[in-house]
Amino acid sequence: MSRYWSAVVEALTPYVPGEQPKLANLVKLNTNECPYGPSPRALAALRAGVDDTLRLYPDPNCDSLRESIAAFYKLKPAQVFVGNGSDEVLAHTFLALLKHDDPVLFPDITYSFYPVYCGLYGIAYKRVPLTTSFEIRVDDYFTPNGGIIFPNPNAPTGRPLALAEIERLLRANTDSAVVIDEAYVDFGAESAVGVINRYPQLLVVHTLSKSRSLAGLRVGYALGNVELIEALRRVKDSFNSYPLDRLTEAGAAAAIDDRAYFEQICAKVIASRTRLVTGLESLGFDVLPSAANFVFARHRKLGGAALAAKLRERSIIVRHFRDPPRIAPFLRISVGTDAQCAELIAALRSILA
Ligand SMILES: Cc1ncc(COP(=O)(O)O)c(C=O)c1O
Repeated sequence: MSRYWSAVVEALTPYVPGEQPKLANLVKLNTNECPYGPSPRALAALRAGVDDTLRLYPDPNCDSLRESIAAFYKLKPAQVFVGNGSDEVLAHTFLALLKHDDPVLFPDITYSFYPVYCGLYGIAYKRVPLTTSFEIRVDDYFTPNGGIIFPNPNAPTGRPLALAEIERLLRANTDSAVVIDEAYVDFGAESAVGVINRYPQLLVVHTLSKSRSLAGLRVGYALGNVELIEALRRVKDSFNSYPLDRLTEAGAAAAIDDRAYFEQICAKVIASRTRLVTGLESLGFDVLPSAANFVFARHRKLGGAALAAKLRERSIIVRHFRDPPRIAPFLRISVGTDAQCAELIAALRSILA
């Protein structure tokens, strides 16, 4: 604390990102990055962008990237908003659409950045408990609210929610925004993007950090009706007109345009996930059904903290959450390459022997 701090800063409880260790030769399965590199077309576009035009500001509206995204999803460019990582898109969403007198609703076990945005912007919120099997039950959200947000699949559980259930929620909840954070949707869950034109209150948020292998570039986007998108643009242009630089816009557009590479990467991760789950179950883990590029698993005998520490001694990093206590027995393990998953299983076998 410092006497120069504002009262707002003093009251903040910032988000704690997963560790990015400086050590080499780690098996890094803690922050749900993609184990494969980005599309070669994206890398070529990034390299090609390194020239004299960097003296100029980028396009504040990112028109070419928004056109690529719109074409991919068969929407209009005016239905697309882009930002510096989906974290920034989500931050703008909380201020633009979820700050009302009634509390915003989100699950008690979910992406831990949501309450942080509420703290930053002074937004009232209510945590809605997941069921005993860690599922979102949409009936629990049929209550007055200033908006609803959750990831699908949920994080850190990986459990997907059927689109029919999301539509049931949308039909019941028409007076406030419903935001579906689809950071992991490409690994096997049903996307709500296809129903955007039927529900004016629906905003869907995506990232290029997972299924497009571009966590280092920082690009996220939101899809929804033009009024919702306009609200986000108003916040952006009151904060930073140029959230994406020239290189990032070019690289991101090339990644979106390379549909074949994207589909190939997702299929590989999904196949590795199946093998990882089988390996974990054979060692006595209970694994929640996952439609994400990570799994949430609990060993029947050894606790999550002890297992994470022992894996770390063997240079394998996974994510463990102490809070809330209900998830403390679990490990969140990103799906790596088959070789990385095999190393993890071998290490766990020796720890549990
Ligand atoms: C559910 C969820 N939403 C959003 C994000 C943010 O992704 P990014 O800011 O890299 O786009 C993450 C990151 O792990 C996440 O787990």
